[in-house]
Amino acid sequence: MSANYEVRGNVAVITLDNPPVNGLGHATRLGITDGLARAQADAAVAAIVITGAGKAFSGGADIREFGSPKALAEPNLLSVILVLEACSKPVVAAIHSVCMGGGLELALGCHYRVASPGTQVALPEVKLGLVPGAGGTQRLPRALGVENALNMIVSGEAVKSEMLAMAPGQKLFDKIIEGDLMTGVVAFAAEKAAEHSKGAALPLVRNLKATHPNADGFFQFARNTVGAMSRNFPAPLQCVEAVAAAVKLPFDAGMKREREIFISLMMTPESKALRHAFFAERATSKIPDVPADTPLRAVDKVAIIGAGTMGGGIAMNFLSAGIPVVTLEMKQDALDKGVATIRKNYEAQVKKGKLKADKYEQRMALLSTTLAYEDLKDADMVIEAVFEDIVVKEQVFKALDAVMKAGAILATNTSTLDVDKIAAFTKRPEDVIGTHFFSPANVMKLLEVVRGAKTAKDVLATVVALGKKIRKTCVVSGVCDGFIGNRMIEQYSRQAGFLLEEGCTPQQVDKAVEKFGFAMGPFRMGDLAGNDVGWYIRKRRYLEKPNLRYSKTADLLCEMGRYGQKTSAGWYDYVPGKRDAIPSKLVTDMIEKHRADLGITPRKISDDEIVHRLVYALVNEGAKIVEEGIALRASDVDMIYLTGYGFPLFRGGPMCYADTVGLFNVVQAMNRFAANPHDDAQFWQPAPLLARLAADGKSFS
Ligand code: NAI
Repeated sequence: MSANYEVRGNVAVITLDNPPVNGLGHATRLGITDGLARAQADAAVAAIVITGAGKAFSGGADIREFGSPKALAEPNLLSVILVLEACSKPVVAAIHSVCMGGGLELALGCHYRVASPGTQVALPEVKLGLVPGAGGTQRLPRALGVENALNMIVSGEAVKSEMLAMAPGQKLFDKIIEGDLMTGVVAFAAEKAAEHSKGAALPLVRNLKATHPNADGFFQFARNTVGAMSRNFPAPLQCVEAVAAAVKLPFDAGMKREREIFISLMMTPESKALRHAFFAERATSKIPDVPADTPLRAVDKVAIIGAGTMGGGIAMNFLSAGIPVVTLEMKQDALDKGVATIRKNYEAQVKKGKLKADKYEQRMALLSTTLAYEDLKDADMVIEAVFEDIVVKEQVFKALDAVMKAGAILATNTSTLDVDKIAAFTKRPEDVIGTHFFSPANVMKLLEVVRGAKTAKDVLATVVALGKKIRKTCVVSGVCDGFIGNRMIEQYSRQAGFLLEEGCTPQQVDKAVEKFGFAMGPFRMGDLAGNDVGWYIRKRRYLEKPNLRYSKTADLLCEMGRYGQKTSAGWYDYVPGKRDAIPSKLVTDMIEKHRADLGITPRKISDDEIVHRLVYALVNEGAKIVEEGIALRASDVDMIYLTGYGFPLFRGGPMCYADTVGLFNVVQAMNRFAANPHDDAQFWQPAPLLARLAADGKSFS
């Protein structure tokens, strides 16, 4: 039983006890109804308190039960709440720390609610593409007022208990208890018991009225603003409908409406995508052969080699987490420039009010610089972010091997070089690992953690834990060219190039991809990142793979000196200092000439074909990566694309999207693409994993 029962004086106390956040799993729900039955049957008990052990009142549904029959087994949460409401003795929820989702719905079913100040209160279901499903949309507006309740339900954000208690006319909290909650609530419950012994009726939130002086106008306004803000996500607008039902309909009819909305949202691809992303994020840190209790190495000081674009951003992550950093460069002016950029970035945050001035100074005080490797010897970890050149990496890693203390972790931020080769430059390859940050490194959530053939398990576990500490989403990748993300993007870029050759303009491709939901199409992205970066990589990569066909348009663009925004000219023209992409006549001419040289007659290509060629290129390469074991699971591939490449969240990542379309249909499309004489027929042979799953009617998930 995941709830405890005790009697204090004439008050029974039911304590939810299901770590870490007292999720309302089946055993916990049973614990509540059993406790209520015991208390009802005990003549010595006059009132009942429900509270949570440890760090929460309740965080809501037990996510470990999601999708299992246990989640639906009786008593489900709706039934538990009915039992609560029917209880003839006053029931008081004693709320503290965290009260979210089903936890708040449970509390709203109690006769009274008291809370400690500082409690995080939320109905976060919208973040999973749902509405609250156990009466939250009907009871919270009645208890808190329509406008405040709608804000909480639509945003899913937590609000502190003491703030809620200040809402005019609110009946959510009967009392905020400063000091010891249990002493306070037992006294409060005894008091209520005395009141009711004289026959006063027990208050139920369902009996309150949810009213608004101008309900029609208010809900119309809410529909407009919420609709505009939540374009690709249906749930927020449905939250408005559910709350409107609380105002318009009697309680039971409103509950029925909430259930209908909940069930219809559950079936939407958007909610499936959000739930997929929620679980995918949690799955990333599970590494099958590295137990969760692997002892970690202490990382109290980090050294960074190179204070350029990446080195500076990487340093900021650690400074912001309170971890001292020492940065090494070849020349003093490179150090000065690097430090100035870090200052500039933090100052921009201070100006926007996102960072307090004293915090900024504290962070800068953690940063030191040096030109001498000697000064790195007390660092627990070093991250190399020097030029992408294997000769330079060799020099650096040999120098690090000579000075770093035993047990220090040696990481490389290389985006394309072989981590095993870099590890072999040292006498301690087991301490070497890849930490592939994404630019801008102080902003982007993704960190690809590259596990070398010899990387020690505790090094891997330590880096993943450290990644969490600096608030990254860490995804483990094996060693291969481009790791997971860039290896896939190569195929996406190749398709983008072929599309130009066959008849598209860069703006047509970008528009189609952006309409699909990507933050940016491939050509605007290239202009932002710098087309010369890919040019440099292609020169090396395609030397090694002389038979791999790709479109030369991007090379021709670079030969024109059009590197992107930094040269005010790329796939588009730019006005210096501005980011608006203006279609370029020069680029159109270049593409047309190249097309003519290849003897291709342009054809009209649909947006569907554009999107599917680009996205299925990701899917096919992703499937190979999963099958080869470079990625641990398909959902890891999705996390990489959601957090590092601007893949639309409401589609759940490329592999999740392919599942939604149906793998059979994906394979059919690939077969069509393979028949196109201008495309790469060999690439479009479905990866064996994909072909197998499609043939068996299965999905990646
Ligand atoms: P960058 O050119 O901006 O910075 C490199 C810095 O390293 C320069 O300040 C340079 O003075 C310094 N440096 C070079 N050789 C050195 C040495 N022997 N000792 C000490 N310092 C040295 O380059 P960026 O863009 O920061 O790239 C660094 C690494 O990060 C590369 O391996 C790159 O492939 C990788 N990377 C870059 C991304 C990007 O978007 N720029 C994204 C992910 C990884």
